Amino acid sequence: MRLDVVTIFPEYLEPLNVSLVGKARTTGLLDVHVHDLRDWTYDRHNTVDDTPYGGGPGMVMKTGPWGDALDTVLADGYDTGAHAPALIVPTPSGMPFTQELAVELSERPWLIFTPARYEGIDRRVTEEYATRVPVYEVSIGDYVLAGGEAAVLVVTEAVARLLPGVLGNADSHRDDSFAPGDMADLLEGPVYTKPPLWRGRDIPEVLLSGHHGKIARWRRDEALKRTARNRPDLIERTDPKSFDKKDRETLSILGWAPGPEGSEGRPSGRFWRRPPAVEE
Ligand code: ADE
Repeated sequence: MRLDVVTIFPEYLEPLNVSLVGKARTTGLLDVHVHDLRDWTYDRHNTVDDTPYGGGPGMVMKTGPWGDALDTVLADGYDTGAHAPALIVPTPSGMPFTQELAVELSERPWLIFTPARYEGIDRRVTEEYATRVPVYEVSIGDYVLAGGEAAVLVVTEAVARLLPGVLGNADSHRDDSFAPGDMADLLEGPVYTKPPLWRGRDIPEVLLSGHHGKIARWRRDEALKRTARNRPDLIERTDPKSFDKKDRETLSILGWAPGPEGSEGRPSGRFWRRPPAVEE
């Protein structure tokens, strides 16, 4: 996979040389090119921003440098045999970056990231390139960063670990929280390793039992507990058909109940948190 990043802070992308992504680069699975946007400025101050039309706070990134940079990056990529580029525009106004989107992006051969500073990039830039290549405006969460570079690191790491050959074990991401499939919509439960006793704390006995069925059940219950506590929204939107009898028991102990069948506004039978009992 080829990755291009155009930024005014190339040094911010240094972490792409480290750990999993760094290794994928050295083994040739990832071909990363980081570009300095200011290489496409032609004034004494290397200006990349200007005041917003219509007024308002902050500055907007100018069309000129971005247009010239993206034309060059695209031409260079095509020249070297890359194909089917997609533009990834990190912005708090983008679609949520999810595991599903990470999987989709990991199947593309060439991603070009345009992390912005200030109030963002002049809209005409995304409009222009959207006529030529798929454009994904992506947000990594409901908070505002000072720029998109940290989002590039997040997206790159989530995508790179899905590339064939990057993680040793092809099964490694099957059980990820948010992985499509059986465990969909449940967070992963706790994990333990040696020693068996640390500062007076031992590990759940079932994990030493060697009983695979019991261990799987325990893991599932722990996943349900953690999800109910940390991400109740995931339980609420799970198709009730994907909960087995024991799941229902566990959820009931945790204070959850199936919603009324087909009631207004709620898909039939979805679990929802029972209201706490009213004290007399
Ligand atoms: N740039 C600033 N905030 C961001 C966010 N939450 N996601 C992606 N890019 C951003």
